[in-house]
Amino acid sequence: MKDQRLSRRRFLQGVGVAGAVASAPGLLSACASGGGPTSGGGGRETLRVGLLVPLSGTYAPLGKDMQQGFQLYLDQHGGSLGGRPVEVVSAETEATPEVGLRAARRLVEEDRVEVVTGVVSSAVAYSVKDYFAGADVPLIISNAGANELNMDPTLPNVFRTSFTNRQPCFALGRWAAQNMAGETFACIAPDYAAGKEDVEGFSDAWGGEIAARIFPPFGTTGDYQPFLSEIRQSAATAVMAFFAGGEAINFVQQYSDFGLKEDLPLIGAGFLTDDGILQEQGNPALGIRTALHYTPLLDNERNQEFVSSYSEAYDATATTYATQSYDAAQLIDVALGNADVEPGDAEAFVAALEQAGTIASPRGEFSLTSDIHDPVQPVYLREVQQVDGELGNAVVEDLGEFQPIPEA
Ligand code: BEZ
Repeated sequence: MKDQRLSRRRFLQGVGVAGAVASAPGLLSACASGGGPTSGGGGRETLRVGLLVPLSGTYAPLGKDMQQGFQLYLDQHGGSLGGRPVEVVSAETEATPEVGLRAARRLVEEDRVEVVTGVVSSAVAYSVKDYFAGADVPLIISNAGANELNMDPTLPNVFRTSFTNRQPCFALGRWAAQNMAGETFACIAPDYAAGKEDVEGFSDAWGGEIAARIFPPFGTTGDYQPFLSEIRQSAATAVMAFFAGGEAINFVQQYSDFGLKEDLPLIGAGFLTDDGILQEQGNPALGIRTALHYTPLLDNERNQEFVSSYSEAYDATATTYATQSYDAAQLIDVALGNADVEPGDAEAFVAALEQAGTIASPRGEFSLTSDIHDPVQPVYLREVQQVDGELGNAVVEDLGEFQPIPEA
């Protein structure tokens, strides 16, 4: 695997694929520091970072949060990571596998970035996985929860600062088994990898009856009425849901408008009521309980500082997506700060990422597993409540620390 990756880099250098970067469609360049492409003000070579994010479609707001989280870390650290001035090149993935794969190729082969981060959708993560397996560039996923991303085979150059789809949903399922034992669930989620894996994680831990598993088409469903009718007609007495971005706004509002909110308690993965969409969801979101590893209401000093800096910089509430991307910047900073990595030495870069140790995140400290490079972290049960005059995800219970792939 290592030899394959190294020979690929030599190949790319040999044919000189750089160039035509700024004019490549779908690419947005954003200079994070005053440094030029090869040398920063302090004489250290510029580190080019590729940011793979959706800039249009259902998940566009998540992509924006991830850009802002990464930028905030840079701004707080003089525009440098590991002592090297940074240039960020953003590339549009939508939530479409082929678009994501083309964007990844452009970042690596034309923009010649030394590290890639981002990726919101599990479908995009699965589509770029094989490319990065053969690429001589580390990939740090800062959202997509795709369970199988770094397994079978494990990929030495793939890391993740976010979660696996199974992690929060398994925690939720276990909590439900202990606290909602008499209920019969319907599960509903978009029809793509993340939706399927979230429902599976929940149902494995729940262990009880699931009256219906419903998967509306992803990205094209605006009207959830037919699916809400299906829930109503099933034997369900409670509902577990995973939706994110614009779909989560529509689903939560229509669940309430349809009259299900009074009858069937709704729980879900925390993205359902993420803080970036919560005010828009409004009162229909009140009382919804979800499981996740983050909420801006987490009571620790680092988080309070992060939430207030984020709000000052962007006039917005910090979100899970922003935090995970902030932590990707932090992971690179710690890795390059601890080790002597020559520019362009991907092997040393990957080794440094592997040895980065504990990340002091706004979510609390966490570290990555040594095999699949995924976070081991606490998951919280959160409830949407009025907090200081605004809707917020208040912590109701610490569900404990979870491995990336918890076993039933
Ligand atoms: C995913 O596709 O993995 C995903 C997308 C949005 C929020 C959470 C997970």
